[in-house]
Amino acid sequence: MKKILLVDDEPNNLQLLKQILKEHYQLIFATSGEKALSVVVEHGPDLVLLDIMMPGMSGYEVCEKLKANPSTTNIPVIFVTAMSEVEDEARGFDAGAVDYIQKPVSGAIVLRRVQTHLSLVRAKELDDNQRAAIFMLGEAGHYNDTDTGEHIWRMSAYARAIAEAAGWDHDIAERLELAAPMHDTGKIGIPDEILKAPRKLTPEEWQIMKTHSEIGSRILSMSRNPIFSLAAEVALYHHEKWDGSGYPKGLSGEDIPESARIVAIADVFDALTMKRPYKEAWPLEKAFATIKQDAGTHFDQQLVNLFIDIQSKILQIKEEWDAKEIL
Ligand code: C2E
Ligand code: SIN
Ligand code: SIN
Ligand code: FE
Repeated sequence: MKKILLVDDEPNNLQLLKQILKEHYQLIFATSGEKALSVVVEHGPDLVLLDIMMPGMSGYEVCEKLKANPSTTNIPVIFVTAMSEVEDEARGFDAGAVDYIQKPVSGAIVLRRVQTHLSLVRAKELDDNQRAAIFMLGEAGHYNDTDTGEHIWRMSAYARAIAEAAGWDHDIAERLELAAPMHDTGKIGIPDEILKAPRKLTPEEWQIMKTHSEIGSRILSMSRNPIFSLAAEVALYHHEKWDGSGYPKGLSGEDIPESARIVAIADVFDALTMKRPYKEAWPLEKAFATIKQDAGTHFDQQLVNLFIDIQSKILQIKEEWDAKEIL
C-alpha cells in the first residue's frame, strides 16, 4: 500500500482527508511543517498532501525544503489550501508542488489527483530505472575495451537514423536506439587478453571472441521488457552477414532480423571510423566506401542504400558526438 503524508494544523481537516483516503492508502499525519519534515525522513511517504497556512513553517517552506533535498525531491507534493488566488497557485508551483486542491475538498477530486500523481511517479521511475540499466549494460559491454564508450551511443544514434529512413515508426526506432547500446554486452564474458590484444587474433582467440553474441543475448533475454528483448535479438544477430558467412548462426538475407541488419551497418561504420587497440581510425570516405562495397555480401543492399541517402545526417550525428568527446 502506498504511504501518504497528510499535513495540516487543523485536526478536523486531517480527519476529513483521512476519511477520504484511509481505505486506499497507508496514512501518516503531521500537524506542523516542522513535524512534517521529520516524518518524511522517518517514513519516506510516496506523496504529501500539504496545507499552506500553518503557524511556524508554512507549506511553501516545507515544499521548498523537500525539493532541495535529493533524497526527498522526487516525492510529489500536492497543496491543499483555502487560498484561491492565482498568485498563490503560482507560488505553489514555484515551490515545486505538482498540483493544487482547493478547500473545501471533494473526496472524488482528492482521490483522483492522488492516484494520478502516484502513477506518474511510477512511470517516471520505470523510465529512469530502464535508462540506468541500459547505460550499465552498455558500459559493461566495452568495460575491457580501450575506447571511452562513445562508440555505443554514437552507433545507436546511427541505428535509429537508419531505422527511421527504413520507415520504422518513431517509437520503434527510438526503441532500437535504446536497445542498440547493449549489442556488445556479451564482451563482458571475453577475457582481457583477447579483447585488449593490440594485434590480429589467433584462430583460437577468434573462436572465443565470437561467443560474445550469444553471451550477450543470454544476459539480455533475462528480461521480457520490449527494449531488452529487442536488445537480445540485436546482440545475437549483429554479426550475421547477408551472404550467410557471419556468426553465430550463419543466417542469410531476410532471415536475419532487420534490427540486426541495421545495427550491423551502424556498428561497423562506427568501428571503422574510430581507433581500436588493433587498428587506426579510418578516413570517413574509406569507411563509406567499405560499407558500400560490402553491400550484398556483409550488409543488406537496401539498407546500405538508405544509409548512403542519409549520409549528411550520419555525419551530423558524428560531429555532435565528436564535439562531446573533446569536452
Ligand atoms: P569492434 O571492434 O566493435 O568491431 C565491430 C565490427 O566492426 C567487427 O566485427 C567488424 O565487422 C568491423 N570492423 C572493426 N574493425 C575492422 C577493421 O579493421 N576492418 C574491417 N574490415 N572491419 C572491421 P567482428 O569482426 O565480428 O569483430 C567483433 C569484435 O571482435 C570487435 O568489435 C573487436 O572487439 C574484436 N576483434 C575483431 N578483430 C580483432 C582483432 O584483430 N584484434 C582484437 N584485439 N580484437 C578484434
Ligand atoms: C488527527 O490528527 O486528529 C487526525 C488523524 C487521526 O485521526 O489519526
Ligand atoms: C574475421 O573476420 O574472421 C577476423 C576478425 C578480424 O580480425 O577483423
Ligand atoms: Fe559485437
